[in-house]
Amino acid sequence: MSVNEISNRIKQLQAEKNAIILAHYYTRPEVQEVADYLGDSLGLSRMAGRADARVIVFCGVHFMAETASIISPDKKVLIPALHAGCSLAESITGADLLAWRAAHPDGLVVCYVNTSADVKAHSDYCCTSSNAVKVVQSLPAGRPVLFVPDKNLGAYINKVTGREMELWHGDCCVHERLPASLLLERLDEYPEAVALVHPEVNGSHDDRVLQHPRAFIASTAGMIEHARTSPCRQFIVATELETIHQLKKNSPDKEFIPALRTTLCGQMKKITLERVLDALEHEQFEVSVPDDTRRAARIPIQRMLEIQ
Ligand code: 13P
Ligand code: SF4
Repeated sequence: MSVNEISNRIKQLQAEKNAIILAHYYTRPEVQEVADYLGDSLGLSRMAGRADARVIVFCGVHFMAETASIISPDKKVLIPALHAGCSLAESITGADLLAWRAAHPDGLVVCYVNTSADVKAHSDYCCTSSNAVKVVQSLPAGRPVLFVPDKNLGAYINKVTGREMELWHGDCCVHERLPASLLLERLDEYPEAVALVHPEVNGSHDDRVLQHPRAFIASTAGMIEHARTSPCRQFIVATELETIHQLKKNSPDKEFIPALRTTLCGQMKKITLERVLDALEHEQFEVSVPDDTRRAARIPIQRMLEIQ
């Protein structure tokens, strides 16, 4: 079948099955094109809560589908590729976190959304890259804070808020490939360009990047909005490169240059159009979270969603 035929069949099945398709900006362009809603982690979590459908087909990695299922337990949540994981989410287990908490009994735990349901169930607050600074700023002063699992996002938040959180040493294998030296090299190479830098990036918390007048550090949705509204015509993209699909759609007259040509998330690419079709046809692969874990994991997610 051609891409058009598959896309048409997906639309037909969606209507028959009362299904909504949510997709992250890192998925393949043809998958983004069939999505009803496209977003970053925060936008997708909010949309999962609002979706008026029987089925959610989640085009993203496993922790994202799990989060959708925690927020919307009455809906059938499907992930088109069961083994689409995330190196960051896999860097810590619920048991690891319990042991770390035991060593810091008065600590508050903030987990990045890129964690399993089990880790969320042992956390006090959740955050995404869109709202991490706000979430941390809302915490009571004087309490130690343990941040899991991304050392880069955690170090970035520490620099911006002045809070000295203890950091778990996880990282994203894609964003870790972008050190400050490379970002600075690209900024020198393109003296008119603004660098769009995700806070998961290795160099995001280096003072030379943080204080650079042409570095803009934000979540994926924040980058797209900044590029659209900025008078600048040229951007260096320091994140997962599929983001360029929406950057170009939103700002067709601007130029987007990859900071590095290899920053693609292989896990997100497991979501192919054919697999989206199979997911709808066979209602596979269902992602659900055991009730007790779901109830506990919902608390930090709910606290995050209440912070505007
Ligand atoms: P955002 O969607 O919050 O920008 O995070 C990027 C990411 O790596 C998701 O896995
Ligand atoms: Fe996980 Fe990194 Fe892929 Fe995002 S880009 S899903 S953090 S491995």
